[in-house]
Amino acid sequence: MKPPKKAIEYYDEFAPEYDKLAIDYYWFSPKVMFGMLFDKICPNQKLLDIGIGTGLSSEPFKKMGMEIYGVDGSSEMLKICKRKNIAIDLQKIDLENSRLKYEDEFFDMVIANGVLYFLANIENVLAESVRVLKHNGILCINFEELSDGINEEYRNISNCVISEKLKEKTGVVVYKYNIDYVKNIISKLNVTIKEVLRYFAYKSPTTKEDVYFTLLVLQKGGDR
Ligand SMILES: C[S@@+](CC[C@H](N)C(=O)[O-])C[C@H]1O[C@@H](n2cnc3c(N)ncnc32)[C@H](O)[C@@H]1O
Repeated sequence: MKPPKKAIEYYDEFAPEYDKLAIDYYWFSPKVMFGMLFDKICPNQKLLDIGIGTGLSSEPFKKMGMEIYGVDGSSEMLKICKRKNIAIDLQKIDLENSRLKYEDEFFDMVIANGVLYFLANIENVLAESVRVLKHNGILCINFEELSDGINEEYRNISNCVISEKLKEKTGVVVYKYNIDYVKNIISKLNVTIKEVLRYFAYKSPTTKEDVYFTLLVLQKGGDR
């Protein structure tokens, strides 16, 4: 087993292959998230993509006329995203503990697709996401759900051993979260859970198992 490695470092190496492998391994999660938010999209509104990567999740929102802003820790992923001209602003930050460099209530929508499970502590990023969201704005997140027991840390053999070339570089730690743990964090923020969906997110290239995500659509404020 390789020593632990930060996901950001991993994605810096993996960036040139990301878009191709997303197709090869059925990374449908961007389409699912877009579909879940379709009726909440308004042209010219502002969307922040947390962990934007190469921009796969933001692209359809851009096509619908939204203004895209993105943050990510990997400069190589951000370089690819920049070339696609999806976002009007891209910033490099480590989501584990940083404050977002946007003012309060700046965004209409915030999304984080395939990102939270790299963070040991999701409290900061969720609090920051809600802070920058306008009242009634929408936050959409997903994570790998742990059905029983406590939150589990594990070596990702599905998401990270994604190509032969990188097989030997496994060692990124990812986290499965218990839904009650996530709901407990959310309950301390000013948001209401609007929708919950468990869905197929991608196929593991190594185990060939289907990987499922739990997605939450949250609204800032609103009736509980
Ligand atoms: C599976 S990719 C998802 C990219 C994009 N959201 C998509 O739907 O294709 C995970 C992204 O999270 C970023 N990431 C992982 N850990 C991070 C951290 N601690 N801070 C900032 N970005 C991080 C990686 O650089 C990568 O771009």
